[in-house]
Amino acid sequence: MNLPDLKKAKIRSDEEVKTIEATNLKSNKFAGKKYFLKTYGCQMNVHDSEEIKGILKNLGFSETLDYEEADIIVLNTCAIRENAHDKVFGFLGRVKHLKKEKPDLLVAVGGCMPQQNSVANLLKEKYPFVNIVFGTHNINDLGKMIVDAKSKQDIEVYSIEGNIYENIEYDRDSKYCAWVNIMYGCDKFCTYCIVPFTRGKQRSRKMEDILEEVQKLKDEGYLEVTLLGQNVNAYGKDLDTSYDFATLLENVANIGIERIRFVTSHPWDFTDKMIEVIAKYPNIMPYIHLPLQSGSSKILKLMGRRYTKEEYLELYRKIKDSIPGVSITTDIIVGFPNETDEDFEETLDVVNKCKFDGAFTFIYSPREGTPAALIKDSISMEVKEKRLQILNNLVNDYSLEHNKEYVGKLVKVLVTENSLKGTDKVCGYTDTMKLVNIDGAKEDIGKIINVKITEAKSFSLDGEKVIFTNI
Ligand code: 5AD
Ligand code: SF4
Repeated sequence: MNLPDLKKAKIRSDEEVKTIEATNLKSNKFAGKKYFLKTYGCQMNVHDSEEIKGILKNLGFSETLDYEEADIIVLNTCAIRENAHDKVFGFLGRVKHLKKEKPDLLVAVGGCMPQQNSVANLLKEKYPFVNIVFGTHNINDLGKMIVDAKSKQDIEVYSIEGNIYENIEYDRDSKYCAWVNIMYGCDKFCTYCIVPFTRGKQRSRKMEDILEEVQKLKDEGYLEVTLLGQNVNAYGKDLDTSYDFATLLENVANIGIERIRFVTSHPWDFTDKMIEVIAKYPNIMPYIHLPLQSGSSKILKLMGRRYTKEEYLELYRKIKDSIPGVSITTDIIVGFPNETDEDFEETLDVVNKCKFDGAFTFIYSPREGTPAALIKDSISMEVKEKRLQILNNLVNDYSLEHNKEYVGKLVKVLVTENSLKGTDKVCGYTDTMKLVNIDGAKEDIGKIINVKITEAKSFSLDGEKVIFTNI
């Protein structure tokens, strides 16, 4: 049994990798059994879950959306904010009851939370009914751990990243849009953020491996890829090569896949060359998620973000001026320790100047082990909640304002699924990442269609399909 130990990495020989793959691929030991998988957190976790699903599928499991019906429950966890942590332990409480009725039920907890020693210890001491605990660096151990699962708990978490695996067998959620990891981990160490600790230092995949994956996805009929990393525009900086994210983006664009997206961009690493490449290629979508975090230069410095309010605004302007019709969304944290009313006003000022298309907003949540968690905070939760509310109202007003600009316009939508808004509706995203609910047509799923926007809401658009006929 291995608890996280701060020096431990998993470096495997090619032979070992093959053995693990063989265990994952060939054992159909669980044919007829069902898995329930719950994913918390960011897109990186969503994509990791596609790897977990691939492993479970190869073992013979099929998916159930009802956890009470499952033979194995897997939780892929997030450590970014306290509420994600609370949700996982809340759900584990329910699983504990279920396990009393179904003693053979297997329970696995993986992802970012067990990368924290305190969580791995808590699972060991207080949650012995959890059979398997794995981390972000050894997802590919999961198949083997399930095959070997015994009545006692098996904890296998590595605190240092090991080798990068290629040829992962994902069971992807969509047949049209695919996530493609271009890098793992993050070197930025923003003072509030747990990610560099849970996901390790930045490791970029080799460009040729990424291009090969994108080519394969195109050949399989995928219409969209989203290049994924905690900080995509730092891509390649850890490699002994001259290429950078702009070069990668250009090479991916030249493969000719219909739509290319990328998340997340750190303003500090955003180069003019990137802006040029995005503007030049019509298949690189004019949509950028550009986390601001705070509008106060004082708070940004305390956050270790490496840019000032003015520098962010300058970059924002440059992007807006250079990429026609670009939409920009952001992340904002309120209530960082000792954020004053004046600091918060600076954040509102940036929001008023940038009029973001959308924003994910959060109340700061101290993460054990991060530098910011050591700062004594004098601002009450009541004040923080009030600020969040004011910010949300402003952000939503601008979202609606942007969405209203679309009414009457013709847009291209990649239709991906049935809409939750009604049985006769489908939905998908514009190139600028606006969600559109469309009347009609199941046969349009998997196609890029022309849509006329008829109505704007704060978080989505309504539209109708337009068919051009030659007169
Ligand atoms: N508290 C609140 N929000 C956080 N984020 C990251 N760490 C924290 C934290 N400790 C937010 C940031 C980041 C997004 C993914 O989550 O805004 O961009
Ligand atoms: Fe966290 Fe900062 Fe890295 Fe984003 S750039 S993952 S906020 S450390």
